[in-house]
Amino acid sequence: MEKNKEKYLDLENDPVVKKVIDTYKDVIKVRKPVRNPDLMLRILRDEYKLLVKPYIVYITVAAFMNNRPVLYEGPPGTGKTEIGEAILTLWSGKSAFVLPCSENYDEYRVIGDFHPAMAMAKGFNEESFIPRPLLAALILDTGVLIDEIRRSNEDFQNLLLDIIDKRRIIIPELKKVYVQKGNGFQIIFTSNPLDIAQNELSDAFLRRVIRIEFKYPSLEEEYSIIKLRLGNLISKLDDQIISKALKIVRIMREKALYKPGTADLVSWLTLTVLLADSKNKKKADIKDLIEAGYAILYKNTEDEELVNDVLK
Ligand SMILES: Nc1ncnc2c1ncn2[C@@H]1O[C@H](COP(=O)(O)OP(=O)(O)O)[C@@H](O)[C@H]1O
Ligand SMILES: [Mg+2]
Repeated sequence: MEKNKEKYLDLENDPVVKKVIDTYKDVIKVRKPVRNPDLMLRILRDEYKLLVKPYIVYITVAAFMNNRPVLYEGPPGTGKTEIGEAILTLWSGKSAFVLPCSENYDEYRVIGDFHPAMAMAKGFNEESFIPRPLLAALILDTGVLIDEIRRSNEDFQNLLLDIIDKRRIIIPELKKVYVQKGNGFQIIFTSNPLDIAQNELSDAFLRRVIRIEFKYPSLEEEYSIIKLRLGNLISKLDDQIISKALKIVRIMREKALYKPGTADLVSWLTLTVLLADSKNKKKADIKDLIEAGYAILYKNTEDEELVNDVLK
């Protein structure tokens, strides 16, 4: 670690480091790092409006203390992305980077690329080099959320493993090695193993990550999340309406092809209130709930009958 630090300090005047700072200084917000899990839980609730199960924070923090990446796995809309980003930000005290994966993700998109015209004119050097988020995160010592890792290809996953293992990024064209300088550079992956047409994660990958499973919240938990997210808007929803929505999403999670997550439930109830507002009503009624329900729950033609049925 000490040695790494020295190496980094040598790079203080490095043009790539300067470029990274220049590019990202306005988008990276700095705050006091928070590494105490209990304090983190409180800030997640009060500031980020995220109700996170304590074990999620405890295990994530333990993994980070050990420089180990974490994998959040579970169904869509259970808060994986938002919770991951918030925890990384609190841990490092700087806004985390979020990389949404796709099949064609490669080193040029996440580490760095060369400006084609400039590289032609001036060569593959620091001047024509464009640093990308993963390299930027390592240089700035902040966290990275690699979202939906199963959507990326195996080569990309192997590339990440190498970086995670060695905590450094090599740029052969520049003959440069950038090394992790602090412990703010931590990684959270997210994935939904049930999503169809996704890649399997290799054993090598799974061996290295600390896996944390996300599940749909219980009725009580989900009610608390609604209260937290809707804030004052909740006064326009009678309990009876909220209970109906809570019940319906549970049926849909069991039977529908499109399974609504907590994210959908929150959107549904918010839309219900806004709909009532737009009709100048003091409170939302069942009709508003149903109208908003079609917009939120009906995402797959195969669910048509079921949606009609539950919203009846
Ligand atoms: N534990 C939670 N606390 C607060 N809001 C939550 C929680 N879980 C889900 N949500 C809702 O879902 C949204 C975040 O979902 P997201 O992170 O995109 O889920 P995922 O990445 O699992 O698909 C939030 O904006 C909020 O509306
Ligand atoms: Mg997500």
